[in-house]
Amino acid sequence: KQALQVAIDGPASAGKSTVAKLVAKQFGYIYVDTGAMYRAVTYWSMQHNVELTDEAAVTAAMQSLKITFKPGDPDQLVFANQEDITTAIRQPDVTNNVSTIAALPRVREILTEHQRTMADAGGIVMDGRDIGTTVLPHAEVKIFLVASAAERAKRRYAENIQKGIETPLAQLQAEIELRDHKDSTRKVSPLTQAPDAILVDTTPLSIDEVVATIAEIIKKQS
Ligand code: C5P
Repeated sequence: KQALQVAIDGPASAGKSTVAKLVAKQFGYIYVDTGAMYRAVTYWSMQHNVELTDEAAVTAAMQSLKITFKPGDPDQLVFANQEDITTAIRQPDVTNNVSTIAALPRVREILTEHQRTMADAGGIVMDGRDIGTTVLPHAEVKIFLVASAAERAKRRYAENIQKGIETPLAQLQAEIELRDHKDSTRKVSPLTQAPDAILVDTTPLSIDEVVATIAEIIKKQS
């Protein structure tokens, strides 16, 4: 059995990280959350009072940032150098600014390079927006995960409540739609379904059903 590259892309809050983690566990693969990397750069830039549209300043700040993932329970932990930023990068201020950082071509180049290195040996599930189109164009398995905006807002709302963040549902849906719009219309590596990606609509599905669907697709490829 070979160690495949599995790319999972899709709009915000479609359930990518939840299912990617479970799929990785089932196959004994590594899970890489590329959204966390864009979030880490956003957090780092905000901490250093860098203007988020200033590409040169952001990339300069990135030189002192090392992003690493460590196993944790229930979530994988994300570190900026020695600092655990797992919770900080999910705060609304980072979430609502991340698309600005993600539109900077040089930032994408640097993170894409890092992501390819991590995926090199295979045995990896990587989720994001441009994994199947740009980061791993030769991935053996490509999934494009979608759900209706209303359903995604509902899921994000429930997730937020668990974390003690209270944002009105309608506001969440508006933020999700705005972020998708920015991610889909940017010039470099916009969010789009790769021609060879399989579309999975999770709106009516449970997490287990989505994981089972993707696991079947992977088994057919192995
Ligand atoms: O997946 P998550 O919602 O955490 O991603 C946060 C943001 O990072 C996205 O809205 C997008 O702007 C950016 N991103 C990206 N390319 C990726 C992963 C995330 O542009 N591969």
